Amino acid sequence: MEGFKTIFEPFKIKMVEPIDVTTREQREHFLKEAYYNPFLLHSDKVMIDFLTDSGTSAMSSNQWAGMMNGDESYAGARSWIKMRDAIKNLTGHEHVLPTHQGRAAERILYGYLGGKGKTFISNTHFDTTRANIEFSGAEAIDIVIEEGKRPDVFHPFKGNMDVKKLEQLIQEKGAENIGGVILTVTNNSGGGQPVSMANAKAVAEICKKHKVYFFLDCCRVAENAYFIKHREEGYQNKTYKQIAQEMFALTDGAIMSAKKDALVNMGGFLSLKNKELANACKNLLIITEGFATYGGLSGRDMEAIAIGLEEVFDEDYLHYRIRSTAFLGERLKNMGVPVMWPIGGHAVYIDAKALYPTIPVNQYPGQALVCELYRLGGIRCVEIGSVMFGKYDESGKLIPSPMELVRLAIPRRVYTQSHIEFVIEVFEKVLQNKHNARGLKIVEEPQFLRHFTCKFQEL
Ligand code: F0G
Repeated sequence: MEGFKTIFEPFKIKMVEPIDVTTREQREHFLKEAYYNPFLLHSDKVMIDFLTDSGTSAMSSNQWAGMMNGDESYAGARSWIKMRDAIKNLTGHEHVLPTHQGRAAERILYGYLGGKGKTFISNTHFDTTRANIEFSGAEAIDIVIEEGKRPDVFHPFKGNMDVKKLEQLIQEKGAENIGGVILTVTNNSGGGQPVSMANAKAVAEICKKHKVYFFLDCCRVAENAYFIKHREEGYQNKTYKQIAQEMFALTDGAIMSAKKDALVNMGGFLSLKNKELANACKNLLIITEGFATYGGLSGRDMEAIAIGLEEVFDEDYLHYRIRSTAFLGERLKNMGVPVMWPIGGHAVYIDAKALYPTIPVNQYPGQALVCELYRLGGIRCVEIGSVMFGKYDESGKLIPSPMELVRLAIPRRVYTQSHIEFVIEVFEKVLQNKHNARGLKIVEEPQFLRHFTCKFQEL
């Protein structure tokens, strides 16, 4: 809405899901019961759930109506044709494979192209992307630009890939050993920061020259298009969808977790230009996910994805989405909360090391903030620091992660402006209570992906 400061939510609410309002005393108890790890909390004990923006979107009345029209036929379902055509129209890729979520597509594609001796290169591989590549025996190398690693430095496209390094790496490893180059838009693990079209073009050119596959990890491609239209010269008069289409046209294929920008609770796909590669992947799809016209999905899910992929490019929706994330981040910054700057598309990232300089990294300042936000306001979010990425050396000493971040990921179309105002108020209390925040120690942890299930004690 032009000429107004208030962020206008371009929808009204037809169905509500109650939130249990809890007291601080109750939350203190729940937190202790969950061993200070909010992944172990029951969601009905959470007031504002910022754990992830994945699979947490509110669907529209059109999507719900579409669900009733879902065709559950095993082969050639009407809903599949609708989903396939929506994806073909968006990506321009001839071959589309439906999967139950993003990582299933990753396992199929990177499992097939990977293996020992292969290298994949990305701006930043998301955790599941890296895990699927490494599980195949291949290696995954991240080469985001330098600005992308510095939380306080402004750059309009902090998710860009370092193209000089890309060229060097391909030459060093040998083009025949490169499994693929993956551009993640927006760059989730790097703060939800966008990638420019110029950067995508430069990456495409290098890949083409060396005959190396170029893939888009496109789960937030509509949000990325918003930033291009508003920050990159020459895109002001294009629609968001045209911008996304232009980016897909540069690639050999794409993987999407539809749980983000397709505005659904479950789903994903793999799309490819090359027929031989698509056929090889289709075999793996049928063995592990389901027949080629549904993958791991119900007909009703495919119907909702087809509709969601249209809705997400709506101008008013995207404006509301990006502005409301930025609103939260900007307000926090103005209050003196150290945030990753500029604000990305789907989440606000807080630099917990800067917020709690007195808590040493081996006492997990990010987790301390995660616990404070739950205790003070029933807000659930995730630490992206040494709990998630920390490793131990031979003597058992922590090798910390380079950054101690906390992610507030915002579900799409779920929370209202007053929920966001409430979150801002909780942060006022976080700042007032800053000097009483306590570090934690890990008392129990599994070998892999420890952040999901490890248990803590407060110090
Ligand atoms: N790629 C990116 C960039 C992602 O952010 C995710 C998921 C995936 C792939 C995997 O997709 O979950 O459908 O299997 N990100 C979620 C998150 C889990 O919270 O950021 P999936």
